[in-house]
Amino acid sequence: MDIEDKIKELEIRKEQARLGGGQTRIDQQHAKGKLTARERIDYLLDEGSFEEIDEFVVHRCHDFGMAEKKIPGDGVVTGYGTINGRTIFVFAQDFTVFGGSLSGPLSEKICKVMDLALKNQAPVIGLNDSGGARIQEGVVSLGGYGEIFRRNVWSSGVIPQISVIMGPCAGGAVYSPALTDFTVMVKKTSNMFITGPQVIKTVTSEEVTAEALGGAMTHNTKSGVAHFAEESDNAALDRIKELLQYLPQNYRETPPKIKCTDDPNRIDESLNTVVPSNPRMPYDIRKIIRPVLDNKTFFEVQKYFAKNMVTGFGRLNGIVVGIVANQPLALAGCLDINASIKCARFVRTCDCFNIPLVTFVDVPGYLPGVNQEHGGIIKHGAKIIFAYCEATVPKITVITRKAYGGAYDVMSSKHHGGDINFAYPTAEIAVMGPDGAVSIVFRKELAESKDPEETRKKLVEEYRNNFASPFKAAELGYIDKIILPEKTRPRLIKALNMLINKKESIPERRHGNIPL
Ligand code: HXC
Repeated sequence: MDIEDKIKELEIRKEQARLGGGQTRIDQQHAKGKLTARERIDYLLDEGSFEEIDEFVVHRCHDFGMAEKKIPGDGVVTGYGTINGRTIFVFAQDFTVFGGSLSGPLSEKICKVMDLALKNQAPVIGLNDSGGARIQEGVVSLGGYGEIFRRNVWSSGVIPQISVIMGPCAGGAVYSPALTDFTVMVKKTSNMFITGPQVIKTVTSEEVTAEALGGAMTHNTKSGVAHFAEESDNAALDRIKELLQYLPQNYRETPPKIKCTDDPNRIDESLNTVVPSNPRMPYDIRKIIRPVLDNKTFFEVQKYFAKNMVTGFGRLNGIVVGIVANQPLALAGCLDINASIKCARFVRTCDCFNIPLVTFVDVPGYLPGVNQEHGGIIKHGAKIIFAYCEATVPKITVITRKAYGGAYDVMSSKHHGGDINFAYPTAEIAVMGPDGAVSIVFRKELAESKDPEETRKKLVEEYRNNFASPFKAAELGYIDKIILPEKTRPRLIKALNMLINKKESIPERRHGNIPL
């Protein structure tokens, strides 16, 4: 064979690999509203930047007639490229090849890009679309999953890991996405579950569809397994590109700083009237978050889950910040199990990747209830404490209204290492709300009063003025500054500039033992 023949063979083989499971299966994939693995990668990465590796890898299985069925690439497309000029490692399972099921060699391909990502300290993105363990390979496939999981854990907190679920993701296969930092699901075409509807029906007699059991909205609203739900493959990939703009390449770096086109000294008078004068009236905390951020742009994370807690990213004078906020619109902003888990996880994600935290507080306390207590609100609530106390990134807090009881402490208070703690004049910082406090402290007076209604009103007012204000906390230095809502943005930016070189370390240890 001369060189021309060899080049021709290479081209033929490459063409074979590019076709994956063949045109019929590609058409079937399209008919389901899904892109193919290569189309997904092409859409995700900068044009022409993708460098594929291992495109000729095949499985080594001989059982069940598999020796005759070898397809180059073996069900996953792997390699590296750039997104907005930044290096990214990627693997995309190819459902057209044995349903994207995981063989030993397929796992080795994924592990190779994961190893490269870790060594080169750049994010890794996994596009999942697979029938799970390749049944014909047995334990080899299980070993392959184990190798991936270990790499997920070793990469955790070192490089950002992002998963997109774009088809089935069943059985133990779900644990790789679960170990990554963010999971995006595509509505209608993706699902995740440990045991599917058939097995559940046999074991527990429950009847459920795959969509209701583990579809995108189920994991975005009920389980909290996923962070985003998107309408299509393209929308999910767009979401990742946007998300990456808020993340660094690795734990040593900061997210990209961009030139700010919004006035850092911008005053917003609308903020003065967002918090209603009636303390029982709810309001949307996002009406405070958005106006203070650069160009009023807030990238919300897990927006469908635990709506009483808002988390997401934004920029202040070009610097990426993580926003955590109680949401008075849902459950009056009370902390419950789901909100605690959501908050703690987000705080830890920000701390991993050098993202300063800005916390907006309006919290009447923990949600009372037998379900909450029996569900372990004690240990789940403790996660917030753990996450904030452990976080050494700059921490800025703004108390907009209520900061009552234990919830005052846990929401990035001074005592948990808040660097700069602001309060609006409308802030109420106390052990409990005026009504509850008066009922306990003045029980006798109320019982003996000729006009208990009037007496209660008077005492509540007195308590509110004396205790449920920001002044007691400010007198003690627990609040650094009482600020006008309209000046929130310039104050936050000044604080952030001051804190930008913050260095803090916590006591040496093997690792902390967060309550799980
Ligand atoms: C081998 C598989 C496969 C698998 C699908 N295929 N899953 N081959 N191992 N796990 C093959 C099918 O045989 C078929 O090949 C092709 O992929 C497309 O699959 P279809 O069934 O035609 O597609 P669809 O109707 O869309 O259904 C997709 C599916 C279904 C829902 C994923 O294929 C399915 O239920 N597969 C099995 C899922 C499963 O139980 N996996 C094991 C989970 S346990 P042909 O040639 O016929 O077209 C697990 C343990 C991991 O993963 C443990 C880690 C610790």
